[in-house]
Amino acid sequence: MAIPRLSSLLRWRKLAKSDWLVASIGFVLFVFLLSFFFDPTSDSVPSVDRSPPIASPPDLVKLTLSSKAKERGAFCLDGSLPGYHFHKGSGSGSKSWLLHLEGGGWCSSIASCSARAMTMLGSSTYFEDEVDFQGVLSSDPSLNPEFFNWNRVKIRYCDGASFAGRPEAEFKNGTRLFFRGQLIWETIMDELLSMGMSDAKQGILTGCSAGGLATLIHCDYFRDHLPKDAAVKCVSDGGFFLNVPDVLGHPTMRSFYHNVVNLQGVEKSLDHNCVAKPEPSTCMFPQKFLNNIRTPVFLVNPAYDFWQIQHVLVPASPNLDKSWAKCRLNIKECDAAQMKVLHGFRSSMMDAIGKFHQNKAGGMFIDSCYSHCQTLMSATWHSPTSTRIENKTIAESVGDWYFNRKPVKLIDCPYPCNPSCYNLNFT
Ligand SMILES: *[C@@H]1O[C@H](CO)[C@@H](O)[C@H](O)[C@H]1NC(C)=O
Ligand SMILES: *[C@@H]1O[C@H](CO)[C@@H](O)[C@H](O)[C@H]1NC(C)=O
Repeated sequence: MAIPRLSSLLRWRKLAKSDWLVASIGFVLFVFLLSFFFDPTSDSVPSVDRSPPIASPPDLVKLTLSSKAKERGAFCLDGSLPGYHFHKGSGSGSKSWLLHLEGGGWCSSIASCSARAMTMLGSSTYFEDEVDFQGVLSSDPSLNPEFFNWNRVKIRYCDGASFAGRPEAEFKNGTRLFFRGQLIWETIMDELLSMGMSDAKQGILTGCSAGGLATLIHCDYFRDHLPKDAAVKCVSDGGFFLNVPDVLGHPTMRSFYHNVVNLQGVEKSLDHNCVAKPEPSTCMFPQKFLNNIRTPVFLVNPAYDFWQIQHVLVPASPNLDKSWAKCRLNIKECDAAQMKVLHGFRSSMMDAIGKFHQNKAGGMFIDSCYSHCQTLMSATWHSPTSTRIENKTIAESVGDWYFNRKPVKLIDCPYPCNPSCYNLNFT
């Protein structure tokens, strides 16, 4: 596994100042790897006798900048061309396509979007030339048993609104920011269709975090653009953001989404039945439109999602007491009263999933780890030591569901019951 460069960590530190609600997989990976490889005694691995995950050789896949983006006007925040990394399928996987939408938070103001436009989450100028395909993107059948030989595409995130912003929302006064996430999505879809995806027999749209939300927003569009007889489903990872107040009683996430939707003109990209009701921006919350999605959906989400604990439930604030400041960064530091609040968050997630639990075509893997984005690393996706519920890895669960081998509605017992978790430690 490649260790992300320190420079990317530092860039994240800088960004965090101007936009506290930005998540970075790079940063997460860095902390993740740091805790595994540099501090074997770290509390981040709660159970004893856990061997570190298998370090597989890097599977580097080259960046392609979209060839159709310029004529379509599909630009990243700064006006640069969007892009993707494409690994061609082979053998039995040559007519199967898996698209992964990259995540990385959102930007909700001119200032935070301008700052983002100077990073790899807002400009292809800063994209890496190659990225490592791991987890659900891996080519190694022992680490990705179901999808290793499919056509696999990682679509880079550079718009700041879950691939759903609209140019109508751009300022006409010289503030040079492009809100074209929806166009990026449609353009790259067209490009992939012309590269063979129009003959697909099987398809999966997936993504993590802001990309997991984008997966739900665009799931039916993906279905409708693949052949009618293809088996098409969507897997949202870490994208089930909850509309709950924070521990100080403020509607932090709801206000944030309100600002993102209004700034980037996202409303028209959201579920039409939902946005007809008052306060359209609440339609960014999956619980408001999950049951309207026609295509089969699988939810992978930890009930103690660390990104949501750190940004939705216990956002950094000078008014937080010191013990919360510790607990939000390391679940092992939470006292009994705080654990009660975290269990309450888990209950809110169960309530929000609610009716979806009865959905025959749907599936879920709701574990009790302090984690986020679990389909992207073999440590959590699939390996002899990876996270399990009822002795099934996430890869096996998604496979059983996708291939209709059996219904999969896995809900873990409450924290800290699951010894196969990799709980992160941010302190
Ligand atoms: C452009 O317009 C927006 C919204 O009307 C405003 O917030 C922003 O400050 C303006 N930018 C400049 C450079 O005038
Ligand atoms: C769990 O699954 C593994 C294979 O995936 C199997 O070898 C093992 O026996 C199973 N353990 C239990 C307790 O069923």
